Amino acid sequence: MKREAPTSRAAWEQAYAQSESALRAADVERCADLPKLEEVRVRFLGRKGELTELLKALKNLSLDDRRTLGPLAQALKDSLDRQVSARRAELEDAYDAASLQKDAIDLTLPSLRPPRGRLHPLTTTLHEIACIFQFMGYSWEEGPFIEDERHNFSALNIPDDHPARDSHDTFYLQGLPLLLRTHTSTVQVRVMESSKPPLRVVCPGRVFRHEQIDATHSAVFHQVEGLVIDEGVGFADLKGHLQAFLQKLLGPSTQTRFRPSYFPFTEPSTEVDVKCFFCPGSGCPACKRTGWIEILGAGVVNPAVLSAVGYDPEKWSGFAFGIGVERVAMLLHGVQDLRDFYSNDLRFLAQFDEDLV
Ligand code: PHE
Repeated sequence: MKREAPTSRAAWEQAYAQSESALRAADVERCADLPKLEEVRVRFLGRKGELTELLKALKNLSLDDRRTLGPLAQALKDSLDRQVSARRAELEDAYDAASLQKDAIDLTLPSLRPPRGRLHPLTTTLHEIACIFQFMGYSWEEGPFIEDERHNFSALNIPDDHPARDSHDTFYLQGLPLLLRTHTSTVQVRVMESSKPPLRVVCPGRVFRHEQIDATHSAVFHQVEGLVIDEGVGFADLKGHLQAFLQKLLGPSTQTRFRPSYFPFTEPSTEVDVKCFFCPGSGCPACKRTGWIEILGAGVVNPAVLSAVGYDPEKWSGFAFGIGVERVAMLLHGVQDLRDFYSNDLRFLAQFDEDLV
């Protein structure tokens, strides 16, 4: 309630005494919160505050009274000023401390990682294989998925009536003399047709076969083909290159086994096994209890293939190989079922956080 401005010394002293005791009652030093503190400040020190008014009212008193009462009122105002700022600082500090506690951020918590794309394990395996050969001086060549019979079969010494055509379970394009390539050996033919020997190439890529899909077979899979053509190249070179490659890929103590085999486009032909590294060679489901795992097919290029592309088999010779990328990826990562690579299950794929080799 608004007080009348005192006009006599007695009235002024009475008003002063009231304000002083009201101030004591307000107990600024223990004021509970900032809004309450502000309320007290405005009540006493605001533009129309009690102490402000008291100081203003001094002008109604005699000079003598002003001299004695003025410093009294000023001292009370100064002390209140000090108390208010001290209490404000305390309350502000307490507020800061409380909100720091409430909104505390634990800087030691690991951050939320935004989902990041990564290369598919088959892609990294394919790169790993091809890169080892690139270090050995091979260049990278690619060819089309859709092929004709010549590049997939006849130029590779697999004539029309050859039983090997059946074993390839080919997808033919309806009404067209075309097919989905069943192996990357097609690229051997394309490279030889378009360039002159000597050659040293790897041809990585996707191939297609009408397979029954199971843990070790897929209708779409990947191969890395290799082809070396030069003068005087033979089976010993093939063995040296492939052994060097397998030791680089799987480790220096990798044991290899070259088994005689048959491919129409190579003679002699071989299939290469590595010692099973799921079991110590004693036999397990992964190696079908043989202790060895087949990893690639290879051989010395059949002179009939060289003739088919116009190379002189008297002058040039070479070797070729075809590596199954899925097989290598399964070995490298201990994957038992090939279908996992194609299921697009991010929980499976997220395990392969590899950089591009
Ligand atoms: N093309 C053969 C296959 O798909 C593999 C191979 C390539 C064998 C080159 C010998 C030489 O089975």
